[in-house]
Amino acid sequence: MLEKCRATFTFAEHQLQHLIETHPDYFPMYTINGQWKHAGEAWTNWCEGFLGGQLWLVYEQNGDPWWRERAEHYSRLIEHRKTDRNVHDLGFLFWSTWKRWYDLTGDAAINDVIIEAGQTLSLRFKEKGQYLRSFVADESLFIDIMMNVGIIFYAAQQTGDADLLRKATQHSLTTRRYLVRGDGSTSHEGIFNTETGEFLRQSTHQGWRDDSSWARGLAWALYGFGTVYGFTHDVRFLQTAEACAAYYIEHTPDHGVPPNDWTDSDPVPAYESSAAAIAASGLFNLAHLTTDTVRARFYREYALRIVNTLTGPEFLASDTPGWEGILKHGTYHQKKGLGVDESVMWGEYFFLEAVSKAIKELQHD
Ligand code: GLY
Repeated sequence: MLEKCRATFTFAEHQLQHLIETHPDYFPMYTINGQWKHAGEAWTNWCEGFLGGQLWLVYEQNGDPWWRERAEHYSRLIEHRKTDRNVHDLGFLFWSTWKRWYDLTGDAAINDVIIEAGQTLSLRFKEKGQYLRSFVADESLFIDIMMNVGIIFYAAQQTGDADLLRKATQHSLTTRRYLVRGDGSTSHEGIFNTETGEFLRQSTHQGWRDDSSWARGLAWALYGFGTVYGFTHDVRFLQTAEACAAYYIEHTPDHGVPPNDWTDSDPVPAYESSAAAIAASGLFNLAHLTTDTVRARFYREYALRIVNTLTGPEFLASDTPGWEGILKHGTYHQKKGLGVDESVMWGEYFFLEAVSKAIKELQHD
């Protein structure tokens, strides 16, 4: 298994080098028939950190200065996004890139960029309703934002700004209250009355139905609530992350890869591999966050099971000639027909993150 994980990084180096040399400074989102460069719709610009993030992950494995130089370059290319008011994704953009860079250097100027991105994201906070609005509209709260709110907690911690802490905490509590259900499943979106702040209904864009359970959204919640627990030590957030993990594990086939939505009785395609990659990485985190040693072992073993499946021939693109991605069978937006059964940039990033965590775990065995 350790060798399989290392071989996955070697394959990833090959694919990434091909991508950045063939299409310099290009930020792809999903493949079409395995090819990164196309004119397909993007819907929103949230993926530009995942390429630089993968370059940092490769550099962390191989220590080769060429990869570090490329990782810094692709991070710099997105620096201007620290003031981007149009997306709710500044955590995705800066945690995967500038935060990795800062962790290696301790350079205060790099940290300032991350803090500014967190401050910008906090400007999406709606006092009426107590949530960070999604990119779609003032009335809209997305489960995905749980993966981004961590950068506001971080900015609050670094600056001592109590209002940032309040906004990040309230957003997390609102999401927990309205988007996470009693059985641990999650809704993609919540709709609010913007005049009164009243919660009106659950909704979805990328899931099957408004009352269904979109697998990637749940994986974002599993990982994101764990991250928020890491910042706050508020046990409510750990319990929420664990409820999402229990739902994931209970409803997913033994290989560990869910369909796009668990509620769809006849899912085609059968797999949404990016949800599995996110869940694996989030479960490795939960294994370290929980104080229950039995559950910790279980999360670790389940995460390793997912990594074992995703590094196998059905999912790793190494046996598919001409395929430019690393991980196959991901889906971006099934209803819009965007990136269905393809490689997707966040799937690549969280897959490599999960594989790097698996390598660390296995080295300790
Ligand atoms: N944040 C968008 C997605 O998960 O597709």
